[in-house]
Amino acid sequence: MKLALNGAEPTMPAGTILPSPPITARDEEMVLQSLRSGVHTWGEHCEGLQREFAQWNGNRHCLVVSSGTSALHLCLAGAGVAAGDEVITPAYSWTSSASCIIHHNAIPVFVDIEPTWANLDPAKIEAAITPKTKAILVVHLHGVPAQMTEIMAIAERHGLQVIEDCCQAHGATYGGRKVGTVGHLGAFSLNQNKMFSAGEGGLLVTDDEAALERARSLVLFGDFRAPEPDRGGYPGYGLAWQYRYNELSAAWARAQLTQLDDGIAHARHLFGILRAGLADVPGLILPQEPEFGRENAYNFVCHVDSEAVGYSGPPNWLREAVVQALSAEGVPAGMWQRRILPEMAAIAAKNAYGHGSPWRESGSEVTYRAADYPAALYHSATYFIFNGLRRPNTDHVAELIVEATRKVFANLDQIDIDAVASKADVSLYERGWKGRSVEV
Ligand SMILES: Cc1ncc(COP(=O)(O)O)c(C=O)c1O
Repeated sequence: MKLALNGAEPTMPAGTILPSPPITARDEEMVLQSLRSGVHTWGEHCEGLQREFAQWNGNRHCLVVSSGTSALHLCLAGAGVAAGDEVITPAYSWTSSASCIIHHNAIPVFVDIEPTWANLDPAKIEAAITPKTKAILVVHLHGVPAQMTEIMAIAERHGLQVIEDCCQAHGATYGGRKVGTVGHLGAFSLNQNKMFSAGEGGLLVTDDEAALERARSLVLFGDFRAPEPDRGGYPGYGLAWQYRYNELSAAWARAQLTQLDDGIAHARHLFGILRAGLADVPGLILPQEPEFGRENAYNFVCHVDSEAVGYSGPPNWLREAVVQALSAEGVPAGMWQRRILPEMAAIAAKNAYGHGSPWRESGSEVTYRAADYPAALYHSATYFIFNGLRRPNTDHVAELIVEATRKVFANLDQIDIDAVASKADVSLYERGWKGRSVEV
């Protein structure tokens, strides 16, 4: 069967995938009420969202802020991290999981991921702990919970704070507990792509009142310092930021929160269709749900197994070609981060603020060599995701994705991989990868 990449009609015509979330009467009612209320900066919707999300997630406290990145940054403040401290974070994640550490003048120390779910590998954490280590920032990547029992045990042994980056993982659970309730502090994103979205926004959660107050003291110009009474006059107690949220977005978020459980259940159902329909495709490795937790069905993360299909070129070239063939069929397939965090230019150069800051003054001896993180490198070069498979998309859409994906993998011989693959995408070997059998 001829592939769309070679001129055939796409399996999924343009417009098959509908944007998520669907806008309901409840969304419109809440947003219009807010718009007409005359209060647009901070008000009842921001306060209401904090209360309702804390209750939904099972936390004592919630602080709503401008983004997931700012929520993460404030988690570091809440955890008591100070300039020059080291914070352990996975070598593969979104930029913010490392930049929030540098924004707090602290030093990111990367630990490799485990290869099954691409989350922090607990077996590799202890070797990265030094007397300067203050916290572990764990990410529940792609909506799959990290191995929290092991991570919490290590943190306890070494007296470290644990910050959960839950930006992709609303509603995912670990051992029956929602992510964000296991560590000391957690951060969620409300940006456009997330399972719970209000366009933009972030939520910090914690059960620790002192941590909440440390974070709150830096959320807005430094004018809050509990338990002191508000003396007015903008005292600027701390060198703070302006991470305040706004009423219109909070109103929409409150409406969305009432639909979140249904949205997650639907996405999990669609994942089930993909898993059943793609179980036996040679060369395609499907995501597994861990026994220790529940995924929120944020991203369906697959890997292309070049050995299984007899391709001996750079694995990321095969992956690139497969994704291009899937995209030509109309499948919402793509890559997200193709680089690992130690490869980020500012980090690799150890220069974020100029003059080598904050590494120079910290005296930290941390090194950033991509080859030290073979699992992260391999993941970044071989994975792809089916994204946005959520409400209002139906079973039919998931079935079309199965049909198109089976078609592409059955006809890999039609793809001129070297010609299609982006040669600009540096090969895994050039990035220091030594092959699967080499442990670094
Ligand atoms: C793992 C992870 N951490 C942090 C963030 C940052 O969230 P935001 O875009 O709301 O700042 C994102 C999302 O982009 C993310 O995926």
